[in-house]
Order: sequence, then structure tokens, then C-alpha cells
Amino acid sequence: MTWFETVAEAQRRARSRLPPSVYAALLAGAEAGHSYRDNLQAFDEVELVPHLAWEVPPTHGPDLGTRVMGLDLSMPVLLSPTGVQAVHPDGELAVARAANVRGVAMGLSSFASMPMEDVRAVLPAALFQMYWLGSRDDMLRLLDRARAARMAGIILTLDWSFSHGRDWGSPRIPERVNARAVARFTPEFIRRPRWAWTFASRRTIPDLTVPNLAMDGEPAPTFFGAYGKWMQTPPPTWADIEWLRGNWDGPFMVKGVWNTSDARRAVDIGASAISVSNHGGNNLDGIPSPLRVLPAIAQECGDDIEIVMDGGVRRGSDVVKALALGARAVMIGRPYLWGLAVEGQAGVENVLDVLRDGIVATLTGMKQNSVQTLSPGDLLVPEGFLRWPAPVDLVHRP
Ligand SMILES: Cc1cc2nc3c(=O)[nH]c(=O)nc-3n(C[C@H](O)[C@H](O)[C@H](O)COP(=O)(O)O)c2cc1C
Repeated sequence: MTWFETVAEAQRRARSRLPPSVYAALLAGAEAGHSYRDNLQAFDEVELVPHLAWEVPPTHGPDLGTRVMGLDLSMPVLLSPTGVQAVHPDGELAVARAANVRGVAMGLSSFASMPMEDVRAVLPAALFQMYWLGSRDDMLRLLDRARAARMAGIILTLDWSFSHGRDWGSPRIPERVNARAVARFTPEFIRRPRWAWTFASRRTIPDLTVPNLAMDGEPAPTFFGAYGKWMQTPPPTWADIEWLRGNWDGPFMVKGVWNTSDARRAVDIGASAISVSNHGGNNLDGIPSPLRVLPAIAQECGDDIEIVMDGGVRRGSDVVKALALGARAVMIGRPYLWGLAVEGQAGVENVLDVLRDGIVATLTGMKQNSVQTLSPGDLLVPEGFLRWPAPVDLVHRP
């Protein structure tokens, strides 16, 4: 494969390789795209403070290692759960293998196209992501299955709003890839023969079922079938969430936290970690970037819970900025999906390498020894950046 040197290049290649509907499904976003854009914009607004020389230079380059959800990671990056990775025939298995080779963890979505047992077989650092979906018995069965599969932890994603409209139009994704769907999408396949060939050469078609949501002995439901069941499930209370947490005795992350009070509630129910997130701008449009509230959340409960953030991370310097503002690690979504779409496992590894190189270059420019010691003082944060009262002594741009 031809190496790509930035995530932007991976995105460009994914765009030219994927059928337009598939590319649009990965890009997602919601409503006016405010949150999606702000996730990128916020990283642009924060600037880095460089230094010219080390007091004590690192012997083997800056230290990137960290620990999240009981897992030792080679760098502070996790692959955030994303549904149906059938953009490549190897799907979630390619992502899991790349994570394993590069020493990072992966969240496997409930809406994944491959069973958790297969993913866990190639990646010990595999976390299973759940929504509040179905009955309590359904969820207990899912926890039992995750336990039997020896998943490393649970991610409970709570920030979904069932927002379906996009001002730029939503892609038409079929419920099943059957003869009718193939006929409808043939014009797109003709425009993107390389992508169609990736599947045809393996004598396979994109699988839009979600095997992790199959009930005992039943066939895997379709993505839209499971989605319909989820829509009909009454949303949980904090007591429900505490009940679910009480039924899993390993690491447990609450994903989708955006304000300090929810962060504190997550601590209270005994969660091990939170992801400060607006779901990549895919749900309630109008939520500012999680980066803008990270310092407040870190001040509220940074000593009591592990904090990661996700949304808009596209380069190593973004990772450094998030860490300096209070995150222990970041999670990425679209970047690795673009890598997967372009080159399968090698493409995901390429994206991880781009981030790793970028973190090293940024720390080198800032003369920082380690990802562990970054603080807000290493950044210039413009006035008005935060969407919450400034909790710490931030350095404002003059
Ligand atoms: C196509 C797509 C599918 C997603 N599916 C899920 C999912 O099934 N579960 C979940 O918790 N988050 C899901 N997310 C959100 C990601 O986990 C993550 O929060 C988001 O992508 C981070 O933003 P980024 O894409 O800018 O890195 C999805 C995001 C995208 C783009």
C-alpha cells in the first residue's frame, strides 16, 4: 500500500474509493453539523507553547505509554466503537488486528458486523460497547456473553438522541445487501470499481447484520432491525445505569458525558472511566466540542475517575492538546474508519502511526518528556474558548 502521511490524506483516499453513500454514512454528522464542525474547530483554536531545549532529555524519545480501563497502551489513543465496519471485507477484525499490532485498545460496537468472540480472539484489549437497548434480561445476557468472551471492559454509550436529519442529506443505506439493493447501488459501484472488487474478489458482500445483538439461538438481526428495538427501549435513569454497572465487575466506561454533573454521577455509580464526547457530532447537534469542557470536568473529578475524550482528533498535536486539558487518552472514530476503508488493517495501522509520529513530534517541539506530565500551562487557550467557568489557571492568548 502507499503510505499516507496525514489523516486528511486518508480521508481524501476514502472519499475517492468508497461509493458516495458509504462515504456519507461514515462521515455521518447531524442536523446543521454544528457539533461536527466545532469538534475540529476547537482543536484549531488551542495553540501550543514550544521550548528550545530539554532540562533532562528523554533517553529513548518521549514516553507515550499510559493505562486506561486496566489496559497498558503504547500511546494515549483508543479506537472508539463505531457500528458496522463493513466498509472493508475484514471489517472489525482488521481494526482489532491493527490495534493489537500497535498496542492500543479498541471499543467494539454493539452494532458491529463481527462477533465479539472473533474480535477478542485477535485482541485482548477489546472493550465491548453497549447501548441501553432491550430488556434488562437482554442486557444481562449481553454482559454474560461479554464475560464469557473475556472482553476487557464495557463501554456504555448514553448520548444518543435518534437525530436522523442532515441538512446535506442522509445516505440511503439498504437493510440487506440483496439483489434489489445491488441493482439500486450498481451506478455507485460502477463509479467505484476498486471498492466493489475488494468484496467481489473475496466472493463476499457487505454484511449489514449485527451478530452481537442476536438473542440466544436466533439469527443476527439487521442493523435497522436492532436500531428499531433500541428506539423503542425507554431511556435509562441513573438508577438503571448503576444497576448495569453493578452487574459487571470489570472496568466500565460511561461514554458521552459532556457536563460536570454527569461526570460526577458517573463517579457516583462506580464507573472506572468516562469519555467526554458529543458522539462525534452525530446526535444532539449544538453541543460544543468536548475539548471546551474538558478542563472543568478534569477539575470536577479528574482524581476520581479516568477521563478520556473523543471527537475531532485528527493529528498527534490534537492528542497532546486534549491531554494537556485534562484527558488521560483520546478515542478516535472516523480517522481509523477512513484507514480501514482505504487499506484494511494496514490502513488502520497507518492512521495509528500518523498519530504516534505526530505525538512524538509535538512533544519534541515542546520539549516534553512524557504524555503524563502535560498541563494547561503548555497551551495557549484563547479567551472565550471554554464553555464553562475556567477551573484552572489557563494561559490566555495575549
Ligand atoms: C460512522 C460512525 C459510527 C459510530 N458508531 C458508534 C457506535 O456504534 N457506538 C458508539 O458508542 N459510538 C459510535 N460512534 C461515535 C464514535 O465512537 C466517536 O464518539 C466519534 O466518532 C468520535 O469522533 P471522530 O469521528 O471525530 O473521531 C460512531 C461514529 C461514527 C462516525
